[in-house]
Amino acid sequence: MAKQDKTLSDLEAQLRYHDELYYAKAEPEITDAQYDEMREQYIALAETLGIPDEERYSRTLGDDHSDGFKRIEHAVPMLSLEKAYNLEDLQRFERGLERMLETVEQFEYVVEPKIDGMSVSLTYVDGTLKQAVTRGNGVAGDEITAQVKASGAAPLKLKTCKKGLVEVRGELYLPHDAFEQMNKELAEREEKLLVNPRNACAGLMKRKDAKSLKGLGVQSFLYHIARFEGMELPESQWQRLEWLNKQGLSTNEHTVKANGVAAALNYCEDFTPIRDGLSYDIDGMVIKLDDIKRYKDLGETSHHPRWGIAWKFPAERKETKLLGITVQVGKSGKLTPVAELEPVFLAGTTVARASLHNFVELARKDVRIGDTVLVEKAGEIIPQVVSVVSEKRPKGLKKVEQPSQCPECNTGTIAGDIFIYCPNPTCPAQVRERLRHFTSKAAMDIEGLGPAVIDQVVEHLDVCSPADLFRLNQERLITLERMGQKSADNIVAALESAKQRGLAKVLAGLSISQLGGKLAEDLTAHFASADQLIDLAKRHADGDESAAAALIAIDGVAETTAETVLQAFASPEIQEVLSALAALGVVLEEEKQELQEREGVTGKTFVLTGTMPNWGRSEAAGYIKAAGGKTSGSVSKKTDYLVAGEKAGSKLTKAEGLGVTIIDEAKLKALLGMG
Ligand code: IVH
Repeated sequence: MAKQDKTLSDLEAQLRYHDELYYAKAEPEITDAQYDEMREQYIALAETLGIPDEERYSRTLGDDHSDGFKRIEHAVPMLSLEKAYNLEDLQRFERGLERMLETVEQFEYVVEPKIDGMSVSLTYVDGTLKQAVTRGNGVAGDEITAQVKASGAAPLKLKTCKKGLVEVRGELYLPHDAFEQMNKELAEREEKLLVNPRNACAGLMKRKDAKSLKGLGVQSFLYHIARFEGMELPESQWQRLEWLNKQGLSTNEHTVKANGVAAALNYCEDFTPIRDGLSYDIDGMVIKLDDIKRYKDLGETSHHPRWGIAWKFPAERKETKLLGITVQVGKSGKLTPVAELEPVFLAGTTVARASLHNFVELARKDVRIGDTVLVEKAGEIIPQVVSVVSEKRPKGLKKVEQPSQCPECNTGTIAGDIFIYCPNPTCPAQVRERLRHFTSKAAMDIEGLGPAVIDQVVEHLDVCSPADLFRLNQERLITLERMGQKSADNIVAALESAKQRGLAKVLAGLSISQLGGKLAEDLTAHFASADQLIDLAKRHADGDESAAAALIAIDGVAETTAETVLQAFASPEIQEVLSALAALGVVLEEEKQELQEREGVTGKTFVLTGTMPNWGRSEAAGYIKAAGGKTSGSVSKKTDYLVAGEKAGSKLTKAEGLGVTIIDEAKLKALLGMG
């Protein structure tokens, strides 16, 4: 693989990683601006590599798809908006309008709050709500009709429009009071709290039990008409909002008209105090050309329309004192400096600690204990130190030294490119972190073995590996402080049932660098047992190049990831853990689908690309394998079929060039006998 390709797939993997942190876990590690920068970098590099426009953007879009939800293709793709952070960005946008419309004039805009919720598309037929779909990947989304209906977030009937079809788009959101009520109830049940209203709303709308959504307070704002048939609508955004409102669909009351982008920006900037008093979250303002007649002439790129732009609020920042720096030891020995701050109220919560990421970053910012620092929240959630307020630095503050010893076990540290590591795998902090991870929801999900109990079993019962956990019994557990007989029994039962979680969960729990839940699932879809992975790693160690290629062929696996993962499976430590787990009865195989060979599929090589209407790529690959076929990540002369979904890009072009047979999901289903 060419070096640049590798950088591209690494960037893609990083984007996926940050998507998962943002959308699924609501624990972003970087700011929105940093994310945008990384995305731009990816797009620019992909452009130099000749990857077609559509594919470039679709690869960076993300997807909200959840298992068990019906995929519905959008009649009109659900795009996103270009972002603006200042007046120059807005002026550039306006000059673009002038150029494309070949006019110079004061444009009339509609300025609306940008609701920080979950995008939804609602289709009303003859005045009745027929379908609600999430954004998904922009091309196809998940059907949430029952959820929207049960939640009461949108009216089931339009007020006056009784004929024709109209697809309206907007945002589902959870107001602050409803969010707080949910968290209060979770706190009473001692369950994990929801991170923010957006995330809470996304979770609610993906509940399978739609009826339970009644009365929980999910609401909506509608702001766009994507299509309509059998009716006349005004050609002005302002008047369309009025029309929506007349139909009983909720539109946002803080919407205004503005003449020119400067006036629009004034409204945006003056909005901050109003924003603070709103009962729901917004993360910016949207500026749209009012004259819809001109939308057609402006057109759209594959990722955003040209008639509007999103202005983002600057993240709230506060000054506070840096009281100290503690060093945390992670599960792989990574040392992370953490700022201990004088508590400060920032974007809704009191912040007393903030990540300083690594010692290179710390040195770059020249943060010193006793400094006044500026803090903001990454993605409005995770606090971080932005910079030092240098005018306020008292005299005589010392530079922070990189630790030469692990703060936990005193072993001499080693320095990587960016991070510093404790190289001692038996360091108590690392052992604790690895075991906390192994038992966490993201991995084996063992109830009763939360962080505090893990600390106890490491300290008092000499537990130092996942296998040791399965050797715990009731007698030993009850020797721990505050551990009753019942709790001990429950832990033993939870351990017993966790033995059946399957290979993917075990792998995700082993704290192997870059091997998270998603990759673990992808790996087990291709390699059904731990032994197969170990064999592959051994072949790789013996110089067999096809071993790494087998991993890289899995969608989204970068070369560096394959290398790291194979090295881990070749290590005696991982092999020992796996064989000990197997000896204790932990299942290290993924249930294999019965191989039902099918003529036309057996022995054939398939490449999957683009977005299929119903199947995810891993799912389709599973069916192909079950029918005796093979899948590969790249198109070559040996490819028998290219399965092309929506937004298929360079692979499709290449397949066409090579004369490979191109089929869609329906044809694949037919080949598999599932059509
Ligand atoms: S107009 C082509 N108006 O912000 C997209 N979007 O990137 C048309 N959003 O995905 C969107 N409030 O989910 C529009 N008043 C508003 C909005 C809004 C929130 C979201 C929407 C979209 C994203 C823009």
